Amino acid sequence: MTTTSPFSGKNILLGVTGSIACYKAADLASKLTQAGVKVQTILTPSAEKFISPLTFQSVTGQRAFVDKDLWGNEGHIQHIGLGLGADLLLIAPCSANTIAKIAHGIADTLLTLTALAARCPIMIAPAMDGGMFSNPATQENLDILRKRGFIIMGPIEGRMASGMIGLGRMMEVTDLYNHIRLALSQNGPLSNRHFIITAGGTQEPLDPVRVLSNRSSGKQGYALAQAALDQGARVTLISAPANLPIPAGAVIFNVNTAKEMLQAVLSAIPGSDALIMAAAVADFQPIRSARQKIKKDQGLPEIKFEYTPDILEKVADFKAKTGFPRVVVGFAAESQDLVKNAQQKMINKHLDIIVANDITSPLSGFTADTNQVTIIESTGVLEELPLLSKYEVAQTIIEKIKQRLSQ
Ligand SMILES: Cc1cc2nc3c(=O)[nH]c(=O)nc-3n(C[C@H](O)[C@H](O)[C@H](O)COP(=O)(O)O)c2cc1C
Repeated sequence: MTTTSPFSGKNILLGVTGSIACYKAADLASKLTQAGVKVQTILTPSAEKFISPLTFQSVTGQRAFVDKDLWGNEGHIQHIGLGLGADLLLIAPCSANTIAKIAHGIADTLLTLTALAARCPIMIAPAMDGGMFSNPATQENLDILRKRGFIIMGPIEGRMASGMIGLGRMMEVTDLYNHIRLALSQNGPLSNRHFIITAGGTQEPLDPVRVLSNRSSGKQGYALAQAALDQGARVTLISAPANLPIPAGAVIFNVNTAKEMLQAVLSAIPGSDALIMAAAVADFQPIRSARQKIKKDQGLPEIKFEYTPDILEKVADFKAKTGFPRVVVGFAAESQDLVKNAQQKMINKHLDIIVANDITSPLSGFTADTNQVTIIESTGVLEELPLLSKYEVAQTIIEKIKQRLSQ
């Protein structure tokens, strides 16, 4: 692997306040620790009534601080040191009370004191009853924090501890984890770079019910989007139907057909740094899509096809005129003569890099979580990668684009 994940080696200070959602914070702390983050926890006195510091110490292997430590005998100023050493102060769950205190500079617990002293970004995940959340006091306090640059995540709508349904539930741990990943990636080596990535298999309608599509899952494209985001890039993800979670931070454009994908790509590429065409775009489309469902009892349909627009050809025209996207990467899914066919495609489509994958291998290609590719560059450099996860393949491709952009 060429680069590390945005989590590895990072320090997160996890603030936990007096909410029933405290138990979820332990799960989050565990996931972050497993991802390579050093997680130190600060519990408010109310949080200690819900969960023990020992829980956090056990899952993180790090100290969990409580208010007693503020007045302890360790001979140094705890709150200042904690606040200065962190990459992120995350308060999850964050009570209405702690939101109010931080908004007004009140510093009467180790956590609120640390928040006042911290110089790192602060992320807050409010969790409370719906009435407490919608109360103008809480809303105005959150506005104050937003204006000061705090990252506010959630809350979400759902069932709360009271049994009522409303807006106030803490954002799900997986979503918080993904947003933390995004926050830690800011100012990465690709910040200020704009990557456009296409993913999934296009669908060409035969009638209102049926489509002509392909086996692409979108996994490689989504992994590319994640890998670019992990290095701080701005990512536009143009996705044909794919049943995958959208990477946090990606701007998503959902399309169905090759024509729609072309339009989305052409409107995204002006000024862009890289276009990675990982989507499997249909080569043919029915000349006409039937307005009504084609009936079985009307006999076998005769469907005439025409070529879909060639997206890479149009991109090459645009690049020849404007210089954008600076780097264009194509994919070649081949079942024979992998390198030869891919090299030819790279030349025909004026690509800077082509990623060739052998779709005959069950561990590689469409639906698999792994991929085995050969990366060929227009400079003549050819690298055959071993079987890797699609994320690792993505990291390697992003690395090569990064090198091209720095030249
Ligand atoms: C069972 C129980 C559940 C509570 N859940 C929440 C909650 O989800 N969100 C919230 O803002 N306050 C909640 N509270 C109230 C806070 O714990 C209380 O306002 C406390 O002063 C918060 O202190 P802290 O912000 O220093 O942690 C709850 C209280 C109790 C007794």
